[in-house]
Amino acid sequence: MMPPGTARRVQGFLDGVPMPMLAVDHRTRVIAANPAAEAMLGGDLIQRPFVTVLRHPAIVAAVDWVLHPDAHDAPATDPALFHPPEGGATLRAQFAADGRDILAEVTVSPLPSIFGRGAMVALHDRSVAEEAEQMRRDFVANVSHELKTPLTAMTGFIETLRGPARDDARARDRFLDIMEGEAARMNRLIHDLLSLSRVQAEERQRPSTKVELGALLRGVVATMTPRAEAAGVDIHAQGLDEVVTLPGDADQLTQVFQNLIENALKYGGAGGFLGLRMERIAHEPMLRGPAWAVTVEDRGDGIEEQHLPRLTERFYRVDTHRARAQGGTGLGLAIVKHIVNRHRGRLKIDSRRGEGSRFVVILPETSSRA
Ligand SMILES: Nc1ncnc2c1ncn2[C@@H]1O[C@H](COP(=O)(O)OP(=O)(O)OP(=O)(O)O)[C@@H](O)[C@H]1O
Ligand SMILES: [Mg+2]
Repeated sequence: MMPPGTARRVQGFLDGVPMPMLAVDHRTRVIAANPAAEAMLGGDLIQRPFVTVLRHPAIVAAVDWVLHPDAHDAPATDPALFHPPEGGATLRAQFAADGRDILAEVTVSPLPSIFGRGAMVALHDRSVAEEAEQMRRDFVANVSHELKTPLTAMTGFIETLRGPARDDARARDRFLDIMEGEAARMNRLIHDLLSLSRVQAEERQRPSTKVELGALLRGVVATMTPRAEAAGVDIHAQGLDEVVTLPGDADQLTQVFQNLIENALKYGGAGGFLGLRMERIAHEPMLRGPAWAVTVEDRGDGIEEQHLPRLTERFYRVDTHRARAQGGTGLGLAIVKHIVNRHRGRLKIDSRRGEGSRFVVILPETSSRA
């Protein structure tokens, strides 16, 4: 049915295609599969019946129709998808392969007639793009929600001030104070969002300037001391007098340590202790070179283990209610993580419920790494 050498020629053609692609003969046996198809569907595909390679009824039906259009109903076409060649079909399909759920756009088309009767199946993996799209939707929903809450409160107070509280001077002052606080919260949120998007935009670009880390940390301590005193927390600084110069963006690193210290005061302040330590690591295995570690430590309530991996996600808060009451939006650690990434450093979080938390920022000492 197929001219001799067809499988080899089709294989040679498929090997040059980056997306998973395979070809079947008129009996729906696989005659060729490229490396991308083997990576997705497993090796040893040749000569296997197609239905054992990809058990998806709609894909199998499309292959049957392409091979024998008179014997099968034409599959429904989705106009949003790639337009297949004459006699071919395109569909969206979800299946498990490669140990995960894959969402793919599948194109089934007839082999060129010089090869005899056969079909080609191309799988465009949309899983990662789909996941990114979902994250984007979640992000927009989160931002809208975070803005809507203070806005709703303010609208309510405006109404009250126009109506029942119009002539009540004391109530008016109190409501204006609350409205000021809500406006400040919205302002902070916008500021954090802008700063996050700026950091993300330049994340691939290493800082070209140098910073004196000890001096920078001493500056942050000076800024945060009034707040620590107000929270009844003693700051214990250690090793900050050493003169250490490393590649870094001073404004961004200041933001990193301010965010970490602010968290330690807000969530770990009950312990009355905040440790800030700077020390050298002669060889940091992940960074493959010398590095400096800055540890911010508190003796507060700590964080339960299940939350740790998600702390740096945008808008993630352990106790939404409590964090929000303290003015938190859950962007602080996301900003920290992106800044540390930009510096090609590491962020380690270590905490146990009831025993306090330790956040360690590790920065490479030099910009050149082996
Ligand atoms: N030192 C800490 N001790 C206990 N919990 C912490 C500590 N640091 C952070 N967390 C928890 O991690 C969450 C995320 O922190 P993050 O700094 O990203 O957001 P936030 O402080 O809520 O808001 P923002 O920093 O944007 O004002 C916090 O809401 C809090 O639940
Ligand atoms: Mg914070």
